[in-house]
Amino acid sequence: MKKATDFRYNTGETKVPWAAVGENYNASDLMEIIRFLMQGKGEEYEQACQAVYEQVKKLDAVSTPPGKLTTGAQVEAAEEACNKYLGTSSSTFVTNATSGFEIAYKYANLKEGDEVIVPAITFVATMAYPLAVGAKLVFADVDPVTINMNPADVARKITPNTKMIVPVHIGGYPVDLDPIMELARKHNILVLEDAAHAFGAMYKGKKVGTIGDFAAFSFHEVKNITSFGEGGIATTNIPGFESDMKRARFLGLDFSAPIKNWLYNITPIPGKEKPFVALNYSPTEIQGLGLKLQVARNEEIIAKRRASAEYLNSRLAENDAIIPQDLGNEDIKPTFHLYLLQIDPDKAGGDIQLLKKKLEEKGVTNIPHFGPLYRFKVVSDMGYDADEIAKTCPVCEEVFYRRFTHLPLYGLTDEQLEFMADAILESVAEMQQGK
Ligand SMILES: Cc1ncc(COP(=O)(O)O)c(C=O)c1O
Repeated sequence: MKKATDFRYNTGETKVPWAAVGENYNASDLMEIIRFLMQGKGEEYEQACQAVYEQVKKLDAVSTPPGKLTTGAQVEAAEEACNKYLGTSSSTFVTNATSGFEIAYKYANLKEGDEVIVPAITFVATMAYPLAVGAKLVFADVDPVTINMNPADVARKITPNTKMIVPVHIGGYPVDLDPIMELARKHNILVLEDAAHAFGAMYKGKKVGTIGDFAAFSFHEVKNITSFGEGGIATTNIPGFESDMKRARFLGLDFSAPIKNWLYNITPIPGKEKPFVALNYSPTEIQGLGLKLQVARNEEIIAKRRASAEYLNSRLAENDAIIPQDLGNEDIKPTFHLYLLQIDPDKAGGDIQLLKKKLEEKGVTNIPHFGPLYRFKVVSDMGYDADEIAKTCPVCEEVFYRRFTHLPLYGLTDEQLEFMADAILESVAEMQQGK
């Protein structure tokens, strides 16, 4: 199959090429881009920028523009790097994980009346498409240790209308996928792994995001690695769908069909029951380059985060009201996207809400984080009864309101990590003293 790239230009070597890039970035634009990516202040910084600018102007005089800025060789190189890393034969770089999910949901021909089982705790992106098309969201309760989807509760919630199960590897900790895959095979249900946090995580010798029927990883700026702020890699195990996935990225453009009279061919994408029409989720070349560079450092990044989690665990072991992050084992290797801090509220003399307040006061900031999806206004406005659903997700209610929070693990300095550990220990001790 010919490459699924943007077809509107790229006519190749010719005397008058149809140039892809109408207007290239010039030397002063480029300098602004460098200043944006490497920010600073002060005389030394300004001098360094000036010196770079002189060289960039020289470079500008002897260089040619890239000729192509959207999906092309760089995106392909990033996909190749991901394939090598993940062990996949074809992955598709898309605008973000949410658009990767969308392709999977469209393949399932998801519609009103269909049911999708999602974990009670995740980010709204996991469920946005089913909610948007009026499919019914069914919330599986979570495991109290990992806060990932609990396979036993998934089994209880399967009905004849269940079309998809969406395990989410929260914080980069692999979901127990074997029982989920077994249930899915038994009931002819598609599995979409939300691997947004889990690029590089391993489950029983395999990379997560390569086990379900579909998966998508996120390279949004807060993830372990990024492609200039947005980006996603989608994978599939549906036989024959790999090349369809590439076409699904860009409007269904099909180069394999003969093009007559300069008319190109746009084809529907085969779905599970019927074909679907594709939209546009094309990433840019600069995103491709950014991802390729960071994929090469992924193992190093995971190792650094793991070391930070180990440090926090060793410090927090001092107080048995604190439940440390599970570091995994031979079969389970997380990416340490987030540190899962849990407490036993009875031993701690208070719940996680109180601990979060104390941490904030001490300077360990908090952000709104993953919580019960069914509590979002958009879900209740679409006709769901949060309190009724909560009754079916008791562990989610307990862990969210009383036991867990997420802490950052990204590039923190030793000093910041030490500060965080001290603040947690001091806060729990205060709670235990009734302060
Ligand atoms: C659990 C989870 N799923 C999906 C996403 C969506 O990823 P993206 O922003 O690449 O669409 C995120 C993003 O933060 C996430 O946290």
